[in-house]
Formats: sequence, C-alpha cells, structure tokens
Amino acid sequence: MDQYYLKPTIKAEPLIWQWYAWPYLIPPLTAACNIVERHFKIMQSYIQNPQIHAQAVKDPKLLGGPFIDLEGKKVDEVKDLINQTKKDCENLIKLNDTFKELDRTLQTEGQGDSLEPLYNRIPAPLKGLVELVYDLNNNPSIRLIEPLIYKNYYSDRHQKIALSNITSDFRKFVLSTPRLNQEDEVYLVIAFSDSKLDKLFKMKEEPQSLTKIQEMFEVPESKQRLFQSFFTTAIPSIPEDRNYQGDGVRLRYFGHACILVQTRSTSILFDPVISYPIQENEVPRYTFADLPDHIDYVIITHNHQDHLMFETLLQLRHKIRHIVFPSNQGGALGDPSIKLILKNTGFASLIELREMETINIEDGEIIALPFLGEHSDLNIQSKLSYCIHIKGKKFLFAADSNNLDPTLYEHIFDYIGAIDMLFLGMECDGAPLTWLYGPLLSSPLKRTQDRSRTLSGSNFEKAWSIVEKSNCKKAYVYAMGQEPWLNYVMALKYSIDSVQIIESNKFVQACREKGIESERLFGRKEWLIHP
Ligand SMILES: [Fe+2]
Repeated sequence: MDQYYLKPTIKAEPLIWQWYAWPYLIPPLTAACNIVERHFKIMQSYIQNPQIHAQAVKDPKLLGGPFIDLEGKKVDEVKDLINQTKKDCENLIKLNDTFKELDRTLQTEGQGDSLEPLYNRIPAPLKGLVELVYDLNNNPSIRLIEPLIYKNYYSDRHQKIALSNITSDFRKFVLSTPRLNQEDEVYLVIAFSDSKLDKLFKMKEEPQSLTKIQEMFEVPESKQRLFQSFFTTAIPSIPEDRNYQGDGVRLRYFGHACILVQTRSTSILFDPVISYPIQENEVPRYTFADLPDHIDYVIITHNHQDHLMFETLLQLRHKIRHIVFPSNQGGALGDPSIKLILKNTGFASLIELREMETINIEDGEIIALPFLGEHSDLNIQSKLSYCIHIKGKKFLFAADSNNLDPTLYEHIFDYIGAIDMLFLGMECDGAPLTWLYGPLLSSPLKRTQDRSRTLSGSNFEKAWSIVEKSNCKKAYVYAMGQEPWLNYVMALKYSIDSVQIIESNKFVQACREKGIESERLFGRKEWLIHP
C-alpha cells in the first residue's frame, strides 16, 4: 500500500527570496525596505569581511545582531544571492528607494502649505498609490493605499517551503542569515497560499499516496529519496485527550505566548508558535499532535514575528476555522494590515477587531482590549490584548503590553470586571527601535533616541499594578522567549542576573505573598478550571 504519513519531526520553514518568511516580508513595501536595508546590508557586509561575522555570532552580547551565521564560509553563494535578489526584486528595490526619497522630500517641503504641488513629484513607482497628508499639527506623511500596493507589487513567485528532519531545538537566528541551499533540505517551490500545502500538512494525521504527493510538488529527482524519507507508514500516536471533553475550561501552555483554551465545544489558540517533537527532548512540551481536531479561533495579539508566525500557521491552516487579529491604523508603512498579510498567504474567515469590540462565542465572548507600548512609541495600532470570558470565567491575555499608564487598567477592569487568570509578558529590556523597524526609516534616528525607544514590555512595578487592579486569583508571566525552540526568532538568552528574570522573579514572589498563584511559565503547563 502506498499510504504514508508526514513524520511529526518534519520542519516546514517558509522562505521568500531565500530568507525566513516573517510577517514584514509579505506587504510589498515593508518587504522592499527589509530587502534593501536589512538583507542587502547584512550580505554586503558579510562578503566584505566574513570572519567578523563568524566571530560576532559567537559573542552572546551580539545575539540577534546583523551577522550572518555561516562560519565565514559560502561567500560566493552569498554574492550570487545578492545578484539574484537584485534581479528578482528590481521593482521592489525601486519601490523602497522612491518611497524613501518621496518621504524625505515631504519632510523638508511639507511645512504647512498645501501639499497639492507635490503630487507632480511623486515618482512613477508610487503614482496613484499614495496620498500626501498632514496631521493636525502640520506633520506631513505618506498615506499608502495598501490594497492597491499589493495589487501592483505583491508576488508569491519566490515563496518556498524548506522541509527537513529536525533533531534538535537549536536553529540559527533567521532574521540575519539567509537560507542557502542545504543538502538535508527539500525545497518546495510553492506559494504559501496554495492549498496543496494543506494536503501535505494534513498527512501528519491522514495518510496519502506518497507517489501522488511527490508528483504534486514536482520534487526533482535528486531530492526524491530525501523527500520520501520524510514520510512513514507508521500510524502516528495522537494523544486521546487532545479534544477536551470535560464540563469546565482547560488551558494549556505551549510555550511563549501560545496558549490553548478549550471547552467541550470551543477551542481558542493564542499566538500559535508550536514546537516539533525533538528526540533528545530535554524540555517537556506540547507539540502539533496535542492540538485538537479543529481550532475554532486562532487569536493574534500583535504583528511581531514571535506572535504571528507563518511556520506554525501554515501547518495549522487546514484546522483553523477563524483567525482573529487587531486592525491597523491604515495607510502607514510601520503598521501594515494583518488582514492583507493573512489574505495574501491563503487564510480565510478573517475577523479584524478594534479596541473594546467583542465576538460572541459559545458559552461566552472574546473581548478585544487596548495594548500599550512595546512598539518603540511608533503609532502602530495592530496590537490588542484579549479577555476570554467563557463558562463564567475570565482570562486576560495581555501579551507584551507595557503598562505605561496604569489608569488604563482601571478603565479596563471597570468594563470587564475582576478576572480569574492573568497572563502577562515581562520582556522589560527590549531591543531598540532600529532592531525591528530600522529598515522602514527614511532618515537615520539619533542613537540616544533609538536606545530610549525600545520594544519593552512591563517591568515588575507596571506588571504588579495590573495584578492589584485585576483582583485575579492566578497571574502568570509568559511570552518570555525562554523555550529552547524559540531562539531562532527571538535571539534571547537570559541569565539569573538579567533584568527580565529579576523583575519577573519579584513579580512571582509578590503574587505568592498575596496568595495569588503565580509562576514564570516555561515549557508546558495545564490548568483545569471547573465550572
Ligand atoms: Fe512583541
């Protein structure tokens, strides 16, 4: 019989232009900025001095920095990739350059008088795709007509899925190192939106003809043996209890900000980032096999690569009924539409929410709440925290919210009432603005300003203030990026002296002293909440 399952240890990484596909590589203009200002700069620096890169990646202080992790080798391949990308992305490179030029012109010339004369000077690649506007204080900006920019510039031609067998948690930091062809990987040249991928990922549980799958993906002959080794006739072991059958609510922590909330009828999964099963499994964990047959709602808190992750989402797409996510402000380069990102990568039933909007679900509701900070003081609105009110219980998922103004939580708890459980991120010493948003800037930012405007979440004092106002019975620190399977998107390594650990320890201790159950979550955890 030619009936095969996809092995659970097969890693499936989405790539674009040979780089790991994270959300900012989908909207054409943020992608263009990252190609020019991140990828090219890193690759050019590497070919000039590969040994500096090889040294830098060994230095823990430079973790997550702009250094290619290829041991100083493969310089010619990196050169080839630069040349290939220049050809493949010619129109995107022009788009970046003309946008930046127009923005600089606007910043100099938009002094409060009518912007109409400037329309003549909009360069061809952007003509008809932008509006020039002021805010009420005469600060000029370019409003992007984002759907039209997609229509003119979005292309899925260079999307691929890299399949390989994963044997350890360690993976290189993917925002700084391109993926050059590797012997142990099979590359499926396919758009992320293609439903063939759903057929493939369903094979983790439903067997299919291996011959047909191989034909469907047009696997080249040289890779067929490797491709076939990714499949097995052995029936996978699916945990019987993955569909919750009790009367109450079950929560399961899958690592980072990924939490599954289940009742008998409904399943809700936050910020899906799921580990593969690792043979030498030091840290016990839930994996893909622990997810229920269907996920009614996937909920995204914000558009950072460790919260909106295609690698996991694509593998789950066939199980997902609806995706809930925050709306953006619209038209701003730094705040691209999550709706357009998901639509263009093949997701359906998209539910966009704004602050204080709710969705009714069986036995309760999902309430979207404000999320302050953690985005370098940029006007990025595509971020929400959420209260799940289900079976009479309330769970607040605050993600990386930075409690910049505690009065906000007075308003929030006035509205939603006391909660049962709180989940809060405490990455309180986040990276500077340019680490994530640098490629989007038209003019350089002063170093002192960059350092002062970070991607930081709440420290002890701010986190504690939420607990005090919430009257919660349980409070957990999560989303700390500590799990060993997350280093490739997070580049974080804490020690006992790290401020994040000191502050979150203080938080846990303060909670416990008040009789509130608390811990900093790590690996996995389950809670059964009785009705
Ligand atoms: Fe974040």
